[in-house]
Amino acid sequence: MAQLLITGGAGFIGSHCCDVLLEAGHQLVVLDDFSNSSAIALERVADLHGLSLQRQWAEHHGSGSSISLIEGDVRERQTLDQLFTRAKALGRSIEAVIHFAGLKAVGESVQQPLRYWDVNLVGSQRLLEAMETHGCRTLVFSSSATLYGTPEQVPIAESAPIQPINPYGASKAAVETLLADVAGCSGCSDPVQSSPKGWRIARLRYFNPVGAHPSGRIGEDPNGLPNNLFPFVTQVAVGRREALQVFGDDWPTRDGTGVRDYIHVMDLAEGHRAALKTLLAGPPQLLTLNLGSGQGASVLEVIQATEAASGRSIPYRIAPRRPGDAAITVADPSLAERVLGWRTQRTLNDICRDGWAWQKANPHGFST
Ligand code: NAD
Ligand code: UFG
Repeated sequence: MAQLLITGGAGFIGSHCCDVLLEAGHQLVVLDDFSNSSAIALERVADLHGLSLQRQWAEHHGSGSSISLIEGDVRERQTLDQLFTRAKALGRSIEAVIHFAGLKAVGESVQQPLRYWDVNLVGSQRLLEAMETHGCRTLVFSSSATLYGTPEQVPIAESAPIQPINPYGASKAAVETLLADVAGCSGCSDPVQSSPKGWRIARLRYFNPVGAHPSGRIGEDPNGLPNNLFPFVTQVAVGRREALQVFGDDWPTRDGTGVRDYIHVMDLAEGHRAALKTLLAGPPQLLTLNLGSGQGASVLEVIQATEAASGRSIPYRIAPRRPGDAAITVADPSLAERVLGWRTQRTLNDICRDGWAWQKANPHGFST
């Protein structure tokens, strides 16, 4: 099993991915600056596997799964260089990187575009420079369906136009271009391309990641007022918020509310494990894949499913449409299934059950 660097591994998706990768027997080194997460998430992940979170990386010499934490910023070359050098000195070079570290709030990106470009683009650039210097050329990158903007057709295939409508999406699109350039695939839009420069890269475009680990011990813990539907709904259910605003009931959808492709975070994590396995076993290539379920759920359907899972009523009121929203975004995930042999296994009801179990056990997230 491989030694992996997981940037942003303490975050929502990263922590669930660490769980799945430990299950597969990998050794993990997490780099996180905790700008949007807590080390408690990783302590709990380690605990789920009967491990302790190593703060002194040198202590681990075994060949079983392990998880170490380095607190630092992905934009700092020195931190990255030390990390790759140290791994090599300990006899286990970093074989691959999963790059979650980044900022993700659409509205905040409009307010702070320079910060978003710096963390998302410059962070990725520094990481790629360090990887090249230290001879590590395998990378899984967290991209986003947000780069499709307002889609012209649903379900959305990887060949759909890239037309981001906010700085967050633009920064993800820019990193995708940078990765194509690094792989030697500039200007080619084929989602499966060989890399003449010897890189193995997967650009994974997530749809709407939600839900939580089935143990209820790790889950999404947004700072302040949630921007996204799911954490808002579960916070209303648990009594932290009074009511949900439904942004528009006049969309051209089956019940007038927005439709999204919600993907259980454990399915998403398993998609990363499959992508890593495919990259490590295959020739140098650049993959670009949608990770979604292919199923759409409306806002009202999410409310109903969460009411059923929690046994609580979720008060809501209809509010105006939110600027920048699309009526429907649903993935065509068929290419990911062909290339990775992966598809989602969990339903909307599973998402609501696990998301509710997390929220109920941790009403104030990791600070409880
Ligand atoms: P998250 O905020 O929970 O996790 C991101 C992690 O990166 C956090 O632990 C944060 O502390 C860390 N981080 C941020 N800046 C850093 C820096 N400069 N150096 C080191 N660590 C840093 O977000 P998430 O939902 O887990 O998302 C993970 C990735 O997936 C992000 O790149 C995000 O843009 C992308 N993504 C998320 C969604 C979503 O809806 N959650 C959808 C599509 C894509
Ligand atoms: N919604 C409400 N009320 C709320 C929040 C959301 O009605 O309080 C509605 C939205 O209008 C939309 C749906 O719920 O119809 C989903 O909204 P989210 O904010 O949960 O998700 P988005 O699809 O807008 O965006 C999310 C992330 C992006 C990411 C995108 C695709 O915020 O970063 O999924 O992956 F890029």
